[in-house]
Amino acid sequence: MELKPARILGIETSCDETAASVVENGREILSSVVATQIELHAKYGGVFPEVASRQHVRTIYAVIDEALQRANMSLADIQAVAVTRGPGLAGSLVVGMNAAKGISLARKIPLIGVNHLEGHIYSAWVYPADASNPPPEPQFPQMVLLVSGGHTELNLVKTHLDYQHLGGTLDDAAGEAFDKVARMLNLPYPGGPSVQKAAESGNPHAFSFPRAWMEGTWNFSFSGLKTAVLREVRRLEKTGAALPVANLAASFQEAVVDVLFTKTMSAARAFDVKSILVAGGVSANQALRTALTSQGEFPVHIPPLSLCTDNAAMIAAAGYFHYCSGQQDALDLDVLPTWPLS
Ligand code: KG4
Ligand code: ZN
Repeated sequence: MELKPARILGIETSCDETAASVVENGREILSSVVATQIELHAKYGGVFPEVASRQHVRTIYAVIDEALQRANMSLADIQAVAVTRGPGLAGSLVVGMNAAKGISLARKIPLIGVNHLEGHIYSAWVYPADASNPPPEPQFPQMVLLVSGGHTELNLVKTHLDYQHLGGTLDDAAGEAFDKVARMLNLPYPGGPSVQKAAESGNPHAFSFPRAWMEGTWNFSFSGLKTAVLREVRRLEKTGAALPVANLAASFQEAVVDVLFTKTMSAARAFDVKSILVAGGVSANQALRTALTSQGEFPVHIPPLSLCTDNAAMIAAAGYFHYCSGQQDALDLDVLPTWPLS
């Protein structure tokens, strides 16, 4: 693939963030705007699809305008528009897709549908255009751990756009487990950050929760762990004493991080990779970041916190490499609510 100079407008509306971004040459973020709906959904304890879709409609054009303005640009300065095609909520995906189609049609620039998971991977490639010290390029082959609310999987990435799925969760995604455990412990939505916060003052060895190693595979399973936490909570509640929330949160987090870290390291060794890349909402978790950055065996690339959760810079970045590979989607491109990376 021959890389060529290009500014890509990225659009992301797969779940509960309405986002737009301008990225130059696949790595330099000229602007990245994210309008989060967290407060809207908090009262439901999770994302309410109908509400999400309507809110995307309300904000999408303002978010795109803001991204262009912050980049000091107009649509005339953009070479292609990249948009999340899936996986995600159908009603949310179509809002971004339709906005992208309108821009592609009006400006006669390529429309590029991007896989949201692939986007997360490219969040480890981008950096602010004004950064004094651009981070080094992640080297191939890479072991990629994707950990979000909907996915937990290991992929071997041999070069740009070349993904080999090694294994994934057989039940709950890691982020989903964080969200469910947060609810058991009466911690606020979204669960990941609140469990992490509660865990800060807890003892990670207070409870010995199970680890599902799924020996001989690169698969994960978190439902047994989730059930073990629930059983412990029920047992403790019966005693009438206050729940040791911090200790439960810390011990649960330790079990998740232990499995994610250990399996990622084993896979990196088994496939003799040059770097480890971690992305998706759960890559914001401090305990996971510390475990990965303090091992000295492989260079590790984890996006900054602002790019761990859903954003459009990652979509624009992934879109850039598809643009360079010649991808140009038709205006009848449909959204794919379920769409594996490989
Ligand atoms: O990638 P993302 O924004 O959306 C999906 O595509 O799923 O990931 C959201 C998930 C949620 O489950 C959230 O609880 C989790 O990422 N998360 C965290 C942290 N921040 C977000 N999990 C653990 N620790 C965190 N600090
Ligand atoms: Zn995501």
